Amino acid sequence: MTVRLGDEAPNFSADTTQGTIDFHQWKGADWAILFSHPKDFTPVCTTELGMVAKLMPEFQKRHTRVIGLSVDPVASHLTWEKDIADVTGNAVNFPMIADPDRTVSNLYDMIHPNANDTMTVRSVFIVGPDNKVKLTLTYPASCGRNFDEIIRVLDGLQLSARFPVSTPANWQKGGDVIVATSMSTADAKVKFPKGVTELKPYLRTTPSPE
Ligand code: BEZ
Repeated sequence: MTVRLGDEAPNFSADTTQGTIDFHQWKGADWAILFSHPKDFTPVCTTELGMVAKLMPEFQKRHTRVIGLSVDPVASHLTWEKDIADVTGNAVNFPMIADPDRTVSNLYDMIHPNANDTMTVRSVFIVGPDNKVKLTLTYPASCGRNFDEIIRVLDGLQLSARFPVSTPANWQKGGDVIVATSMSTADAKVKFPKGVTELKPYLRTTPSPE
């Protein structure tokens, strides 16, 4: 099944390193990041999971729950977690789904047979409080993800959920943002008292409204 932006994130029940979870129940009204990695006891994945563990306070600040997945069983995840802590200095502090029968992998189209027919690719889904999919990413096994970028996108998504703005190329939290094209410049000047700069009628910027 292909999961696209704006779709409801499919619900599932799965065994994890923290017991059986119902995804929607576990997530509640928070934001969530569901990400897959290809295989336990592999080098790039080890660095990725350690990085996610390290960044957990940043996800928590953003009311965002994080859950990992691979097709390996729970016992394997738990044994591997010791290596991750050992190598990266970060103890895994989020649940990891065990998906040996590929139920969740297939639901989220995480196995791309022309890349590899047994392992999940590096997928990321950001899911909003409304359970709708806000971002999808797919990376190959050879390339570890930049989780600072995932936090940057999360910041942009959360800002756009609160204000009628979008975020420009290479935007960083606190930087100027773009006024929604649906809003007139006159209305924008009222809505954004820090000021509105009209570069083009369709491109108006304002300091971060946060
Ligand atoms: C890795 O995480 O390094 C990896 C994953 C799948 C295949 C090969 C390497």
